Amino acid sequence: MQNFIVTTTRKPDAAAEDLAIRTSEKLGGQFVKRENFSLDALKKAHGAENILLVKKNSLSIVTAEGELFFHPNTAHLRIKNLRGGQGDRLIDALKISADSKVLDCTLGLGSDAIVESFIVGESGKVVALESNPLIFQVVSHGLQNFSDDSPHILEAMRRVEVVNADCREFLKTCADNSFDAVYFDPMFRKPVKKSSGINPIRPLADNRPLSKEIIKEACRVAKFRVVMKEHSGSTEFSRLGFKIAGGGKYSSVSFGVIDKTSLNVRDLPIDRLFAD
Ligand SMILES: C[S@@+](CC[C@H](N)C(=O)[O-])C[C@H]1O[C@@H](n2cnc3c(N)ncnc32)[C@H](O)[C@@H]1O
Repeated sequence: MQNFIVTTTRKPDAAAEDLAIRTSEKLGGQFVKRENFSLDALKKAHGAENILLVKKNSLSIVTAEGELFFHPNTAHLRIKNLRGGQGDRLIDALKISADSKVLDCTLGLGSDAIVESFIVGESGKVVALESNPLIFQVVSHGLQNFSDDSPHILEAMRRVEVVNADCREFLKTCADNSFDAVYFDPMFRKPVKKSSGINPIRPLADNRPLSKEIIKEACRVAKFRVVMKEHSGSTEFSRLGFKIAGGGKYSSVSFGVIDKTSLNVRDLPIDRLFAD
């Protein structure tokens, strides 16, 4: 993991300092009293690349690319649109509805997971995985504690079950057909630079490409669909066996789908899916 320290804002209250100490213990990192030092001075003094900063009741990570903090971001607008009867490209690709079970393999800032959680509701389930421990701490804390939004969005956030795990390992522990849909939104092979909202995540994010083996496992675990988001025109779709879903003709991102029902793969040995 990247070299980091945990500190607070200047003059923290006891609760913030306690949260900082507990977070540093969870991460196995060093807690440093802020005193009156600038963050740059602390970085230099401790040779730290990143600082996990504890504010009143929120966590953020100060990276070379900016500050990474939790906010419902685009989820807010997407849920507003869904409530207004408009569609959502991810939800259409996943084909999920109330009661569905979703495994979101790439939590990131959590926007997609919140929208999935809103759709599946109380009787459904969204499990979201994040392999980077720092991103995981910030986003899982935000999902549980962020309070400045409408009740249906806060409820959707609170319901997301987050796990600090690499999806490669987690998928192996899941039973066949145990989720209706499995979703991947990996870091794009060619980053969309104007997507500035995601820039602070770049220095920390797990940047490894997906493999056919991971997708094979996802096809075993998903009952109906495996979906991947990537840059439009990405060769990752064909390399990994995805068909591009319709919609978003002018968008820079596309959704790829492996539909197990149309392939009838539930009756096939999964290896034949990827026979070269
Ligand atoms: C593009 S972001 C996902 C954005 C997310 N869909 C959202 O709505 O905010 C990709 C995230 O997946 C994480 N990730 C990449 N590979 C992973 C893996 N093998 N297991 C778990 N998380 C992974 C990265 O660390 C990063 O935080």
